[in-house]
Formats: sequence, C-alpha cells, structure tokens
Amino acid sequence: MSHPLSDRINSLPVSQTLAMAAKARELKTAGKDIISLSLGEPDFNTPDFIKDAAIEAINQDYNSYTPVDGYVELKEAICVKFKRDNNLDYNPKQIVVSTGAKQSIANIAQVLLNPGDDVLLPAPYWVSYSAIATLCEANYIEIPSTIETDFKITPAQLEAAITPRTKMIFFNSPNNPSGTIYTEAEYKALAVVLEKHPQIFILSDEIYEHINYGTKPFSFAAIENMYDRTITVNGLAKAFAMTGWRVGYIGAPEWIAKACTKMQGQITSGTNCIAQRAAITAVLANPSKVKFMVDEFKNRREMVLNLLGEIDGFKLNIPDGAFYVFPDISAFFGKIIKGKSINNANDFSMLLLEEANVATVTGEAFGAPNCVRLSYAASVEQLQEAIKRIKKLLS
Ligand SMILES: Cc1ncc(COP(=O)(O)O)c(C=O)c1O
Repeated sequence: MSHPLSDRINSLPVSQTLAMAAKARELKTAGKDIISLSLGEPDFNTPDFIKDAAIEAINQDYNSYTPVDGYVELKEAICVKFKRDNNLDYNPKQIVVSTGAKQSIANIAQVLLNPGDDVLLPAPYWVSYSAIATLCEANYIEIPSTIETDFKITPAQLEAAITPRTKMIFFNSPNNPSGTIYTEAEYKALAVVLEKHPQIFILSDEIYEHINYGTKPFSFAAIENMYDRTITVNGLAKAFAMTGWRVGYIGAPEWIAKACTKMQGQITSGTNCIAQRAAITAVLANPSKVKFMVDEFKNRREMVLNLLGEIDGFKLNIPDGAFYVFPDISAFFGKIIKGKSINNANDFSMLLLEEANVATVTGEAFGAPNCVRLSYAASVEQLQEAIKRIKKLLS
C-alpha cells in the first residue's frame, strides 16, 4: 500500500550507510559474528574534563532554552578557537551553534539554495551533502576524482563544472571517506578559479580538522578574497569523541549567520544547553588534550594499510586524516566469488558482509563507485580479525 507522503521525502534516497548498518544488525541478530567497520564515529569515550563540565552545568541548573544561535560564551570560545587553529577572525555575530555539523550544513543549504540551483560536490563526498541539496530541490553535480590523484580535483575540472546556475561548492578536508587533505597551495589554485565566479559560495566542512597525521588542514576562508563567500563548518563530534552530544557550528558572513539563526529558530531552536556548556570547555581546550586519540588512530592506520596492502586487488592511497581507508577495489569487478557476481562496489561490500561477516560502506554512497570505505575506529583485534577474514575470502 502506498502512503500519501510528500514528493520531498519520496525523492530522498535511503542513506546507504544506514542501510548497511541495518543489514549488519539483522545478521548480528540472526547470530552471525559481524565486525562492523562501517561506523563514522570514534570508539573512544568523551574525555573526563568535558564530562565534568557537563555535570557541573547540570548542577548549576542549566536547564532552560538557550539563545537560538547558542550561548554567547560558547560563541566567544568558538571565535577564540577559529583564531587559534585557523587564523580566522570571526566575531560572535558570525557564529551559529547547531545540533551537530549536519544541522549546520542543512541550515546553510536551506538559506542559500533555490530550486534549480547547482551545487558542486567534489567526489568522493560525505553522503548527506547530496541528500541535503536534494531537499532544497537543488541539483548536485559530482566532480569525480580517483585514487591516482589522491582523490583531489584539479582547477581545470572545477572550471569545467561551473555553469551560470552554480551557487555553491562543498569542500571537506580532511575528507570523509578518503581521508584526503588539500594543501594550502592546492586550495589556493582552486580559489583562483572561484574568484572568476563571484556568485558561488563555498561551504568548507572542517569537522575532521584535528584528526590529521602530519599535513595540517588549511581553512578555505583564510584565502584572500574567499572569506566573504565561505562558510566554515566545524563541530565537536569527531575531535572530542562527542558524536551523541550534537554540537556543530559555523563561522560565516553575518548575513548568512543571521539567516541560519532564523531557519533554526523555526525548526529546532538552540541545541542542548548541557552539551553547549561542555562545548565551551572542549573548544577552549588545547588540542594536545585529545592527541592520544589521533596517535592511536595513526597507529591503526599504519596497521590497516599494511594488512590490506597484502591483499591482491586492493589499491590504496595513504589517507592524511580522518579515520577511514578508501581502497579502490575495481580489480574485483567482473569476477565471481563464492558464486556471487561482483559487478560494482555494492556487490563487493555485500560480499564482504555476507561471506566474511565484515560490514563496510560501498563507495557508491560517496559518489566513488570503484571504492569501499573501511573505518578504523575499531579495536586493533577487530581490525586484524576483519582483514584476516577478508583476505581469506578473496584469496
Ligand atoms: C564530513 C562530515 N561532515 C559532517 C558530519 C556531521 O557531524 P555531526 O555529527 O556534528 O552532525 C559528519 C559525520 O559523520 C561528517 O563525516
């Protein structure tokens, strides 16, 4: 029976990451020993100094609605962070705190995009970008890249993708799913192209900023002439292991921040008051306080790259940040494994789930149909066992 749902929701694809998670759960319930490498969240607990700040906020009776755009003390702390880490000058009127970076991105899309506008998505890109653009009735245009170019697009590709209808481009460095980090020089070369097209706004999603392994990420808004057209998105989920606390934020031109506050005021209001108080402590903390997580991720990255490198057919790059590897597995296309035809990344990812009991995410979800994403936000034992199973299946 079909239900009278809106065209809006009917046009929205089901998230393939969630679909994979649901399938993995189903198999787990049926008694299978599934190892999930499909998760996009750190497997650490929120550090104690942040938890303590939240407990203190509860005891101090922080329980009322907050300003829609966030407590002013938090917005001031975010300005300090932007100056300290990114050399960006924002004032609190340019900051909007939201229920996760996901809401920050949705707000920006809602306030800038009209139906029929084009949004450029350098691929691979985070799954929600395309869905958020679709909800605004905008068209998303993928700019492809491959593992051979370390999943980076070139200025020539960018130039070729721009049309008079292009309104926005989404950058994400360090990138989910590829881990790629654009250098300052590479970003500046892309900015040269964008300078010729002043109608285009840049959303720079920097949520994995602190999870990098040497190459320091560069903020797009720090490029001359880009500040007034760039919205810098960040959040606490990844760097501070606070995914469930739901705190994200933007630094933007004041008129855009004001519009996001108006939008948010009609949908969710300000984000959770306790999480916001704890966020003040987290944002002002020296990033060295969470370095132990980055060091651990770095060790696991080495191990995963070494182990996967032993499997014929896995083409790997070295991800500079985030906590994913994104191998090109197209060498398996056209093969039959365990009686199953492998014609694309979906088939491959499903094969790993059903025959090796390892959950990954198909690259199709990220606009990169030759790849699969494996998260190394899992224990060393789980990672070793998972890759052992994959190796056995594929040899
Ligand atoms: C690239 C990217 N941006 C934004 C988000 C959303 O972050 P939040 O949990 O703060 O909504 C994620 C979460 O997976 C992400 O990977």
